Amino acid sequence: MRLIIEPDYDKVSEWAANYVAAEINKANPSPEKPFVLGLPTGSSPLGMYKNLIRLNKEGKVSFKNVITFNMDEYCGIPRDHEQSYHTFMWTNFFSHIDIPEQNVNILNGNAPDPEAECRRYEEKIKSVGGIDLFIGGVGTDGHIAFNEPGSSLTSRTRMKTLTKETMIANSRFFDNDVNKVPRYALTVGVGTIMDARSVLLIVNGFNKSRALHHGVEGAVTQQWTITALQMHNKAIIVCDEPACEDLKVGTYRYYKDIETANLDPSKLLS
Ligand code: GLP
Repeated sequence: MRLIIEPDYDKVSEWAANYVAAEINKANPSPEKPFVLGLPTGSSPLGMYKNLIRLNKEGKVSFKNVITFNMDEYCGIPRDHEQSYHTFMWTNFFSHIDIPEQNVNILNGNAPDPEAECRRYEEKIKSVGGIDLFIGGVGTDGHIAFNEPGSSLTSRTRMKTLTKETMIANSRFFDNDVNKVPRYALTVGVGTIMDARSVLLIVNGFNKSRALHHGVEGAVTQQWTITALQMHNKAIIVCDEPACEDLKVGTYRYYKDIETANLDPSKLLS
């Protein structure tokens, strides 16, 4: 696993966007061989999306031959609800880039048969050749997508019940009223994320420091689903300084040191 430590959130966002754009360009995608991206919602990826929109407008990356699969979607709120992940993705990203609408995939949280919807999603991912790069954030309890503590590390796309901790954390988007936060969501599984050819997690802020500590220094456990990434052969976490609060000094210095030898992805975009 690589751990990239950037000074602040703006630098984390720039690094992530430059990396994603460089990976898309490196693959030189075509209609026959598109690049397949897994995408998150939440506040963590917002800065990356802003930078990707800028890079798209500057002509440094195109999404014409990119297919996307979002990680998760709430159940029980309408698709056009202002806090649905459909709305989030179109408002904050898709409407501003050159991606064809038919290339966007988001789980239907209101599907009459949620199990069939989850199966359909897994099959669709398979039918386009699997995910090249899965991007994610992390919850304060270490969850990736909505794989809350206790989720099997081999889980596939399915319905999950959100924990109190996640509902409280997400209540800031629902008038700070935890009762307005949906109780259920459809989410890709840890296994679905692990099948991607590469994974990039964005971890920022002091409130994520415990999750980062477990993800980097803890033992692999279903109680902190972020730890599954330790078993992935191409996983990167890009984080800011406040998120490093709970890392050992030695761990922090180790990753700072080895990353000085690695190329900054912005160098690949000029
Ligand atoms: C939600 C999402 C996750 C996200 C997490 C953190 O629970 N399902 O995919 O990583 O929140 O969100 P934020 O980035 O807003 O802290």
